[in-house]
Amino acid sequence: MLLKTFFIQSVLNWYHIYGRKNLPWQKNKNIYKIWISEIMLQQTQVKTVIPYFKKFIKKYPNIQSLSKASLNEILYIWSGLGYYKRAKCIYLTINIIKNKHNGKFPESYLDIINLPGIGRSTAGAILSFSLNYHFPVLDANIKRVLIRLYKININNINYQINKKLWLIIDNLIPIHNTGKFNQAMMDLGATICILKKPKCILCPIKKICLSFTKKQKTIFIPTKYFKKKNKKKKIKKKILILQKKEKILLKKNTKYKIWKDLFILPMFKNKIKLFYWIRKNKISWKSIRNIKKTKYNLSNIKLHIHVILIKIKLKIKKNKKKIWYNILKPKKIAIPSTIKKIINMI
Ligand code: ADE
Repeated sequence: MLLKTFFIQSVLNWYHIYGRKNLPWQKNKNIYKIWISEIMLQQTQVKTVIPYFKKFIKKYPNIQSLSKASLNEILYIWSGLGYYKRAKCIYLTINIIKNKHNGKFPESYLDIINLPGIGRSTAGAILSFSLNYHFPVLDANIKRVLIRLYKININNINYQINKKLWLIIDNLIPIHNTGKFNQAMMDLGATICILKKPKCILCPIKKICLSFTKKQKTIFIPTKYFKKKNKKKKIKKKILILQKKEKILLKKNTKYKIWKDLFILPMFKNKIKLFYWIRKNKISWKSIRNIKKTKYNLSNIKLHIHVILIKIKLKIKKNKKKIWYNILKPKKIAIPSTIKKIINMI
């Protein structure tokens, strides 16, 4: 008990001096802004999220303004941030809020955890950061702090470790200052108890950390648990830039999981499929050119692409899913940043 009090006080005191208190979602905060920030922060670093969060809140400062947005508009503002499924979750959530919660973001744990894209940790973050409710957070940073603090044997399978960590944090979470404590633990993990070369000397809980030794040589680094996940899957694609003067053809992607619902350049498995498509659409070309072979590291795949530029005589018909995009006067549509880079090659 005494140790628990010492632990909480030390973490909170440390936060008071060194913690992050001026992040954009921490100023004039409310549950709506905290929700948007927490969705953006899933699998994405703080520094990457900041400009996107600012832009998003400027355009959609509250639920009312966001509820008028289409999925395309949300995807447009999200483009470049990656993991586009999150934008779709936001869109779906808005509809649930309209229909089920009278247009107000719910404040009960059960209602929140039932929203798309929200698990136990995000629900805890939303409620503790916005309303200081008594729910813990357990993100990757906090997991690392606890694994080291308790020197948890990481040869167990993940599911068991997770269960154990939830039990630990459920027991440690203070009733008062819950939000501050959660933020403090995240910050401790992000700045002191970092994966490689943790800064134990500066750690406020080193005295009770089972992995810390005075000699500093045997810091317990659970590399096995934190080692990078399986190598990214390699995917090869032929990408077609179909150009008629200053316009290029973009297609709304309904086929591939990656970039779902975004506008992309036509993509093919191989050259045969590409030319079959050209023939099927009765495209007659003026010139054909191999532009570039290159690789892109995306969120969960490694994309090897071969870009082919075909200049055509006559435009093919546009429809809801096929548009002619003017590169000199770009329209506000959601295009993944990788596709934008490819477009910029021409
Ligand atoms: N990751 C998820 N939520 C966060 C927050 N509030 N601050 C810093 N990193 C986070």
